[in-house]
Parts: sequence; structure tokens; C-alpha cells
Amino acid sequence: MTPLFALLLPLLLLPLVSAQVPHWGPCPEPAVQPAFSMKKFMGRWFEIAKLPAQFEKGKCIETNFSMKADQTIRVVSSEILKGELRTIEGTGVTEDLKNPAKLGISYSYVLPYSPYWILSTDYENSALIYSCTDVLRLFHMDFAWILGRTRTLPAATVDKAREIFTSSNIDVSRMVASRQQGCD
Ligand SMILES: *[C@@H]1O[C@H](CO)[C@@H](O)[C@H](O)[C@H]1NC(C)=O
Repeated sequence: MTPLFALLLPLLLLPLVSAQVPHWGPCPEPAVQPAFSMKKFMGRWFEIAKLPAQFEKGKCIETNFSMKADQTIRVVSSEILKGELRTIEGTGVTEDLKNPAKLGISYSYVLPYSPYWILSTDYENSALIYSCTDVLRLFHMDFAWILGRTRTLPAATVDKAREIFTSSNIDVSRMVASRQQGCD
């Protein structure tokens, strides 16, 4: 296998292996962050919790967003897996100028852009991200993340984030905390 393919393979398989229970019906349509500022969102975010649970995944997951000269977004994600730092770079775009909080991110020119919606953020502490893909409008597969500017967030902030997802008809009952210990 070429190294590039080896890197992409888990990403290609990820939606299949983690969608153990598909949700019936089309994607929910949650509200997103009003007056979203891309500029304030840039920089380093740590993964605090994610949906769905993925076992055998790395720890210390973080993503660094930065603006490129062509107005697209450089997305660099990293994790520590089996003691090794692994990095992957993608490109983010605003797919709809009327909805700047609805980004699309692709990790390879051969892969389509996946939705990456910022449902809510205060830019300085936490951000709630949602990604949902319809499958024939019969069912949908979704991913959700709570991100933090620090490796851990107060329990109250995490509880509030889960409430926001739930009130947007997103089932986060299987959301799990990400491992951010022993990273630095
Ligand atoms: C994030 O990316 C920017 C632009 O590439 C870089 O200058 C900065 O050092 C990066 N920050 C971290 C924490 O990796």
C-alpha cells in the first residue's frame, strides 16, 4: 500500500465501521452559530468529546485551522496513536456564503467535502461541531464533536454542550470523552 492510501484507508472505512446504528430518516437541520466569524474560529482546538465512540483510536486529538491566501482553510489534525504522532491535512471551504458556519472539509482531492457545521461557539472556550450525511434520504450517519481551546473543559460546559445537541434533535447519548491525558 502506498503511504497515502494507508493514511486514507481508515478515513474511508470510518463512516462504515462507526455507523453501527444508522438513524432513520434524513439529517436533522440544527441551527448554526449566528454571525459566525471564521477569523475568530481559526487556531488550535482540542477534541473534548465525540460521537460515535470509536475504539482503538488515538489520543490527544487536536486540529489547527488557519486561513490560506486563497480564502480556503488549512485544516491540520493530529493524534497520538501507539506512541506516534500522526498528522493529516485537509482543506476547508465555506460552501454557502449565506451560511458561513456551514463548512465543508475534505482530506484529499479524491474525497468529497464532508459537512462540518459549527452549531455554536464562543471562540475562546468551546465549539460544537456537527456533520451529517443523508443516505438516500432513508437514513443518515452523523458525527458530532465538542472542541475546546484547552485539553479539558469544565463538566458544566460539556453538559451544556450536550444539551444543545439534544435540543437540536441530535442523539448524543453515545458520545464519549476523548483522551487528552499524557499529551504534552
Ligand atoms: C497552526 O497553523 C499555523 C499556520 O500554519 C501555524 O503558524 C501555527 O504555528 C500552528 N499552530 C499550532 C499550535 O500548531
